[in-house]
Amino acid sequence: MTSQSQKRTKFGSKFGVVAAAAGSAVGLGNIWKFPYEAGQNGGAAFLLVYICCVFLLGIPVMVSEFAIGRRAHANVSGAFRKLTGNNRWIGVGVLGALTAFLILSFYFVVAGWSLEYVAQAVSNNFVGKTPTDLSVAFTDFTSDTYRPLFWTAIFVLLTALVLLAGVEKGIERYSKLLMPFLAVILILLSIRSVTMPNGIEGLTFLFKPDFSKITPQVILSALGQAFFSLSLGMGCMITYGSYMRKSNNLVQTAVQVTIIDTLVAILAGVAIFPAVFSLGINPAQGPELVFVTLPGVFTHMPGGYIFAILFFMLLAIAAITSTISLQEVIVAYISEEFHLSRKKVIAVSSLLLMVGGVLASLSLGPHSNLVINGKPLFELLDFVTSKLFLPFGGFLIALFVGWFYKAEYMRDEISNGGKLNTSFFPVYRFLIRYFVPLAILLIFCNELGLLPF
Ligand code: TRP
Repeated sequence: MTSQSQKRTKFGSKFGVVAAAAGSAVGLGNIWKFPYEAGQNGGAAFLLVYICCVFLLGIPVMVSEFAIGRRAHANVSGAFRKLTGNNRWIGVGVLGALTAFLILSFYFVVAGWSLEYVAQAVSNNFVGKTPTDLSVAFTDFTSDTYRPLFWTAIFVLLTALVLLAGVEKGIERYSKLLMPFLAVILILLSIRSVTMPNGIEGLTFLFKPDFSKITPQVILSALGQAFFSLSLGMGCMITYGSYMRKSNNLVQTAVQVTIIDTLVAILAGVAIFPAVFSLGINPAQGPELVFVTLPGVFTHMPGGYIFAILFFMLLAIAAITSTISLQEVIVAYISEEFHLSRKKVIAVSSLLLMVGGVLASLSLGPHSNLVINGKPLFELLDFVTSKLFLPFGGFLIALFVGWFYKAEYMRDEISNGGKLNTSFFPVYRFLIRYFVPLAILLIFCNELGLLPF
């Protein structure tokens, strides 16, 4: 099928649109990455900067991405060509597809870990283990050569199957079904964690900011995490926007998705930090934080066996609604721009992503040639995408919408052709034209030490 714009599929119901976009946003970024980033960057201080980034930068960029996508009805690169009538901006799209590839190369690996932990939970492996035992077990597993790759392959395959089912039947249906399930389990886990001895200390860590902890690195990490968590800066929401209907309210959808995503991240923090302090785990431990802390919680709760299985299943579910959105960016781009069948593109991209996953996973083991400048490839992929490519992509999108694309067209798109109230438009316009690009630029300069204060 060559997807001409009139043949492109669309999301169905209004709830389906929110569920698909929220499904993309809510993922390992919220449950795995947010807690360990917060743990490494001063807890509440990080959360505060993060929330500012989410609302002041995230919402305007998300609205812009939806609007670009829906107006153009095209993949990330085609969208820029259609809106401008020339090829000058398509680089943003190509960068987006490349970013998707780099993110997926480590994201599939972590998603695979969640499947291993489902298996471990089923075989009741956490019982009787101290946090130190759990940490050793985690490192043993992730630095193993074959076991993580087996699960990565399964995850790549599952994602390909959903993508083959197509946008409405695949992406939307799975998101609608699985998203609400996720919230319930997180709430139950939070309740158990908070009621553990010393749990309050974890809440203090997460919610009582120590302003002296706000450093340039903390700000850059929070910015990168905001873009990562909201799926922004590489055209994921442009691609999803292109499947939205003329009647969908873009601003309302963006606000809803942002609130859901932020609540899930905070909830994950509430589920994790009280337990971290109760069990005496170091909050700055890094990527293993969730995989060590939560098994510790499960062994301290009635029904822990079941909860452990449910939780890691949930993590995998949250991950798959995100991997499909990431890979859809690549698939829509290649299949539409180069007139190839979706099926072929899904097959080939899955194979290449598996290669990326193999390299990322092996870099955590004893394969020192995959360690660059002391950073395993796995970490480097995460660093380059979250802290450089996504904010830079967001910067370019803001420049495009704020300075190169006609404001009237944007207003027309956001108001559904004048049907919706757009009294907030001047605020949005100010943010996307001045605030977003300047803030990103300043954060970059600040990190590089180029600012005098
Ligand atoms: N937001 C997802 C998460 O938090 C990951 C993700 C999906 C993503 N699509 C994206 C990250 C696009 C950056 C860009 O897990």
